[in-house]
Amino acid sequence: MTMAGSAARHGMAGAKAESGGGARSDRANEYDLSDKDFRTIAAIIYDDAGIVLKPLKMALVYSRLARRVRALGLAGFGDYCNLVSSDAGHPERREMLAALTTNVTNFFRENHHFEHMRDVTLPPLLEAARQGGRVRFWSAGCSNGHEPYSIAMTILSLMPDANKYDIKILASDIDPYVVAFGRAGIYDAAAVEPIPMALRKRWFVSHEGGAHYKVVAEMQNLVSFRELNLIGQWPMTGVFQAIFCRNVLIYFDEATRETVWHRFCDYLDPAGFLYVGHSERVSGAASLRLATEASTTYRLRGEAR
Ligand SMILES: C[S@@+](CC[C@H](N)C(=O)[O-])C[C@H]1O[C@@H](n2cnc3c(N)ncnc32)[C@H](O)[C@@H]1O
Repeated sequence: MTMAGSAARHGMAGAKAESGGGARSDRANEYDLSDKDFRTIAAIIYDDAGIVLKPLKMALVYSRLARRVRALGLAGFGDYCNLVSSDAGHPERREMLAALTTNVTNFFRENHHFEHMRDVTLPPLLEAARQGGRVRFWSAGCSNGHEPYSIAMTILSLMPDANKYDIKILASDIDPYVVAFGRAGIYDAAAVEPIPMALRKRWFVSHEGGAHYKVVAEMQNLVSFRELNLIGQWPMTGVFQAIFCRNVLIYFDEATRETVWHRFCDYLDPAGFLYVGHSERVSGAASLRLATEASTTYRLRGEAR
């Protein structure tokens, strides 16, 4: 499938949910997914992405991957496992990873973070930017772009000419399809519903005869979409004044989560903020470096700055 096929694959509202995307139904027993095949797939996804697939996710794995088995004309999951375990199966391994990520997201999801940004994080940063300062945000695990564009709209609502200054948002995800989707910046009517009307009118234009909305260039220019694996190399050099990593590390085990939190600390400006998802809490040794600032909002402890 090409990147251009991304929108169709994800639907314009664009997300694979935990339910598995709804493709099982009449074909539920088309192939046999053995425990051994499941363990092979789970081991690959853990090694490649840090994502833990417990046995109760078997139905989800089946529904997400049966269509890949079918599309490739394979006899079943045994052949599929052989393929993704081989050197020749490398491209399919990427497809498998993209199929198994869960991309549910929304504009202004967990809105209290954007309120905190507006009221606390942004005012001094935007003042610094007006004086020539560098301001960087990171949406780590950005899915289809709703989160980084919500960050952008929060900035633009305070500073409509943010484009003139050194302000950038890095939007990264391991799934190449969602990265392409976010970069394209086209959303359907249901997706833009949570966006306050004034912001929608100012930062989106009608697309395809009004059925869809496209992010305007001024907003798109603030956001750079990149493929990046949170358990791989990070090529960035500078620090970020805010890192959003929400509803991503919930798929990892505790040890991997801790490693990533420590790495975030190294990339956080001494006065910066880390925003995590509603069900997440920084724990273990990482909590020696990060202190709670507000609900699911952290900053570096004094001694860690
Ligand atoms: C549920 S979405 C969260 C989207 C957004 N942060 C939010 O809260 O609305 C989780 C995202 O994490 C990404 N992800 C999973 N494992 C990853 C990894 N190892 N590196 C980078 N992104 C990853 C998935 O591709 C998916 O798009």
